[in-house]
Amino acid sequence: MNIGLIGSGGREHALCQKIFESKLANKIICYPGNAGTSAIAKNINLDILDFKILLKSIKTQKIDLVVVGPEEPLVKGLVDFLIKNKVKVFGPNKYASKLEGSKAFMKRLCKLNNIPTAKFTVCKNEKHVKKFLEKTNLPLVVKADGLAAGKGVTICKTKKHVLNISKEIFKGKFKSSKKLVLEEFLDGEEASYFLVVDKYSFRYFGSAQDHKRLKEKDKGPNTGGMGAYSPAPIINRKLEKKIINKIVRPTLNALSNKKKHYKGFLYVGLMIKNNEPYLIEYNVRMGDPECQVILPRLKTDIVKIFLNAVNNRLKKINIKWKKQKCMTVVLCSKGYPSNYKKNIQINNLNKIKINKNNFVFHAGTKIESKKIISIGGRVLNFTSLGNNYRIMRMNIIKSIKKLNWIYGVFRKDIGWKVIKK
Ligand code: AMP
Ligand code: GLY
Repeated sequence: MNIGLIGSGGREHALCQKIFESKLANKIICYPGNAGTSAIAKNINLDILDFKILLKSIKTQKIDLVVVGPEEPLVKGLVDFLIKNKVKVFGPNKYASKLEGSKAFMKRLCKLNNIPTAKFTVCKNEKHVKKFLEKTNLPLVVKADGLAAGKGVTICKTKKHVLNISKEIFKGKFKSSKKLVLEEFLDGEEASYFLVVDKYSFRYFGSAQDHKRLKEKDKGPNTGGMGAYSPAPIINRKLEKKIINKIVRPTLNALSNKKKHYKGFLYVGLMIKNNEPYLIEYNVRMGDPECQVILPRLKTDIVKIFLNAVNNRLKKINIKWKKQKCMTVVLCSKGYPSNYKKNIQINNLNKIKINKNNFVFHAGTKIESKKIISIGGRVLNFTSLGNNYRIMRMNIIKSIKKLNWIYGVFRKDIGWKVIKK
């Protein structure tokens, strides 16, 4: 069958590679893809938020199944649009995507269904914020309600900071919404838990821990993610049961009760405190770079999983995983996440040893006259499968040094929690 894959990041290159390995996949079309996907699929460059143009291409290319990588088209209703136009698609509908698209929606759903999460209030103006500040402790977390490309969350240690950030959001800093959520700061260890979901059931789809901060020792500004590893050792059987029973089931039931069944990947962002899981966020897609460490561990044919989910037959499938662990380190363009250089050639990629345990997923790259050019902040994901995180990280760093891309920056301490000195 022909498969259309929406997106252009490292996550999508990892998805594309797995689809490429499937016996069920014939042609793969990436909208728009990157230099990495262009080696195993056909890239078509169009605006993925222009649903009509996208549909036209999906029809012309005779695509049988569409897989949506990033959140924005999901939150804007791409799945509903494609289903209405009789295109098979793997991903959640617009209503269910509000789990990620609106923090206020997600938090209210938690409150209504007794799902453990940080205490919160939704504010629409400064008066609300000031009133809440009178009776609350610091630090306090300020969250823009709508999509904010990973920039919508600020942890504030002073009331002044809360007020300043709130003012910016009310003025429309994030176009997606002018509301905000104020929430209690939770102290604990973060972990991400993934599921693939259909109308009737769900299946475990890996766990991971990522490193969001730019700098070593988890310092510096938040980024989309500087590296990750899977599985997350903190998630054991006992904790998993709590995550399923206290968080996942009540959420999926709440959506089903509204006849807005969830379908697709579900990313459960957690804070673990005293062996209890608290929901920090939902994402309605795979994580990036978490996807790059989960998919290499997958044994089952991914297209089979997509088809079973689309046809509400996930119950019939047993998803199998390799015993090996996986780690990825993100090579960014200097200056990321603020202003970074673009359109710089990347040489030496052919010097990197690629084999069944060591590979590079592309993110912000494009191919031009056979040359690989960086066009994004996060550029390449150096990834390694193995049994020992320390050795995997050593191999990754060796490869990055071999690339010798002088415009690149990366963290050398990815996995510090699982690589004790
Ligand atoms: P979010 O977009 O909601 O995942 O927030 C981004 C990051 O901010 C999370 O990965 C956490 O590191 C941090 N964060 C969010 N909410 C809280 C909270 N209530 N307490 C502590 N840290 C938080
Ligand atoms: N790595 C965090 C995310 O994908 O949202």
